[in-house]
Amino acid sequence: MDLGIEGKVAIVSGASRGIGLAIAHGLAKEGCRLLVCARGQESLDAAVDALKVYGTDVHGLALDVTHPDAGQTLAARAQDLYGGIDILVANAGGNRRGQFEETTDQDWEDILELNLKSHLRTARAVIPSLKDSESGSIIFISSIFGREAGGAGLSIYNTTKSALISAAKIMAIELGKYGVRVNSVAPGSIRFEGGSWDRRCKEDPEGMKQFIADNIPLGRFGSAEEVADVVTFLSSPRASWVSGACITVDGVQSHSLI
Ligand SMILES: NC(=O)c1ccc[n+]([C@@H]2O[C@H](COP(=O)([O-])OP(=O)(O)OC[C@H]3O[C@@H](n4cnc5c(N)ncnc54)[C@H](OP(=O)(O)O)[C@@H]3O)[C@@H](O)[C@H]2O)c1
Repeated sequence: MDLGIEGKVAIVSGASRGIGLAIAHGLAKEGCRLLVCARGQESLDAAVDALKVYGTDVHGLALDVTHPDAGQTLAARAQDLYGGIDILVANAGGNRRGQFEETTDQDWEDILELNLKSHLRTARAVIPSLKDSESGSIIFISSIFGREAGGAGLSIYNTTKSALISAAKIMAIELGKYGVRVNSVAPGSIRFEGGSWDRRCKEDPEGMKQFIADNIPLGRFGSAEEVADVVTFLSSPRASWVSGACITVDGVQSHSLI
């Protein structure tokens, strides 16, 4: 299937490793021109070098997405480099576990910034350019725990990931008349070298085998590439009638019917 995104300009946040890096590979393979970001310069440089293998333009910008100016900085850089923006994949994110009673205002503020507010600011910064695109698309990387309860210790993560899905839906309604689609993707447990599930598998292989047997009907962890394939499709005009949706990529791990 030709996705029709060759030459499109995409920003991917949190793209130096894991799911974000796989998404950047997915888009670059299809010929998108990329601006990727992460905080660490060295790993970002390595990612940019690896992404250049597809022969398309790739630039990196080391920044912290939680900085109040980061969204504007990314949008301005993409505009300078490529003259417009077609796709935003807001992927950077993290977790801070803890019983709700023990969480602090600072814990909430930090993860709200990282998982939600940074993405809203970046989306606001790129929307004017996406309105000028023939096929503007925003994708928020949420989680199955934005769609249903993740369990004890996950109040902050669950809240921020649910909020992202809600925001995407309302943005999709508002931006529909400009032809801009807004979707979210909800991965289940995704294993990649150096990621949190990989670490847990190495620390406790038997426990993780049991976790899979108990929780993932398809019988294994997902890969970052499996998330990237869905995001790449969603970002393309081949998904032209998909907006305001939250798509799970989880091997049937989640239980929600909606
Ligand atoms: N892995 C899973 O099983 C899973 C499941 C469901 C949802 N998700 C979601 O998928 C997304 C990616 O997860 P992942 O497991 O691939 O994460 P990861 O391995 O922790 O990678 C996160 C990426 O984001 C960058 N990053 C982190 N904080 C940043 C910040 N403040 N500013 C700019 N860049 C930042 C990191 O680079 P630097 O550290 O150098 O900044 C890295 O490139 C997250 O939103 C996560 O919640 C993951």
